Amino acid sequence: MSSENMLAVHFDKPGGPENLYLKEVAKPRPGEGEVLLKVAASALNRADLIQRQGQYDPPPGASSILGLEASGHIAELGPACQGHWKIGDPAMVLLPGGGQAQYVTAPEEFLMPIPAGLTLFQAAAIPEAWLTAFQLLHLLGNVQAGDSVLIHAGSSGVGTAAIQLARMAGAIPLVTAGSQHKLQMAEKLGAAAGFNYKEEDFSEATLKFTKGAGVNLILDCIGGSFWEKNVNCLALDGHWILYGLMGGTDVSGPLFSKLIFKRGSLITTMLRSRDKKYKQRLVEAFTKQILPHFSTESPQRLLPVLDRVYPVTAIQQAHAYMESNKNVGKIVLELPQ
Ligand SMILES: NC(=O)c1ccc[n+]([C@@H]2O[C@H](COP(=O)([O-])OP(=O)(O)OC[C@H]3O[C@@H](n4cnc5c(N)ncnc54)[C@H](OP(=O)(O)O)[C@@H]3O)[C@@H](O)[C@H]2O)c1
Repeated sequence: MSSENMLAVHFDKPGGPENLYLKEVAKPRPGEGEVLLKVAASALNRADLIQRQGQYDPPPGASSILGLEASGHIAELGPACQGHWKIGDPAMVLLPGGGQAQYVTAPEEFLMPIPAGLTLFQAAAIPEAWLTAFQLLHLLGNVQAGDSVLIHAGSSGVGTAAIQLARMAGAIPLVTAGSQHKLQMAEKLGAAAGFNYKEEDFSEATLKFTKGAGVNLILDCIGGSFWEKNVNCLALDGHWILYGLMGGTDVSGPLFSKLIFKRGSLITTMLRSRDKKYKQRLVEAFTKQILPHFSTESPQRLLPVLDRVYPVTAIQQAHAYMESNKNVGKIVLELPQ
């Protein structure tokens, strides 16, 4: 392979995991204020599955290669970089796409240092899930000490991060998940209680736990199938943040009347399509306030939860595994060096 090229995850037509393969493509060049990262590891997100199915195009200007996060080493600096990074530095990065390749470019402000004691695999599991969870709880949810927070998909990449960040904020995380094993893992990470949504009404269980008050905040990546239970267990003046639609897009029933009697706020968000300034501020706040707590010396140590690491050559298996809802925490991809 020429030094101008690299290997990247690719698909020619939308469909199942069998369409994915590694393709030789042109290596990207860093533009003004951008760096080139030699990728050691990336991680999988639900967004990759939806993009592969042809239902989630990258935002304008973003790479069409899959991958919303990566870790590795700085390989090149573009013109007009401000000196935050030097060649050879280890770093992890939030991306709108392009992470599942041997090289990726990004604005220098989207990169973060790797906390002491973490491997490149652990670092690759941080940017998308943890910045999303941080944004949901703090920027959008304004979480306060003592708040109760219901976190759906408690053992997902985002869920495992949100539980730990809610605890760190002094809030009380409650979770839903689809198996006992996943609920146990969530409780180990700090969930005060967990409800198996396949076996019980999580809404009733949440109301019982909160002595009828309901939860102040719901982090909802399910949508349609959970709407009525969500609004039923929302506290008066509660915030319900919708950030995914794994349970469908449609609502049938009196959503507005139920919501208005709770004086509830329904907030929706997508991180990937946010503008550069927003992401820059998010990365900066997270780097200052949260990253130090991943280091081994921190008394309230945070932990990126890794389910497994696949070589990127096994990209089809990695997608199939996530699609089967088996993972607890993140699925990481190792790139050839
Ligand atoms: N808006 C944003 O900015 C943003 C950013 C990042 C992620 N997200 C969203 O966050 C969610 C989690 O992403 P992730 O990559 O962390 O996921 P993940 O690790 O793959 O975990 C997803 C889990 O959700 C549960 N689930 C799937 N379908 C469900 C359904 N119909 N009802 C209830 N639970 C269901 C499954 O666990 P169980 O076994 O417990 O059912 C599954 O393992 C996704 O919806 C993703 O699109 C949004």
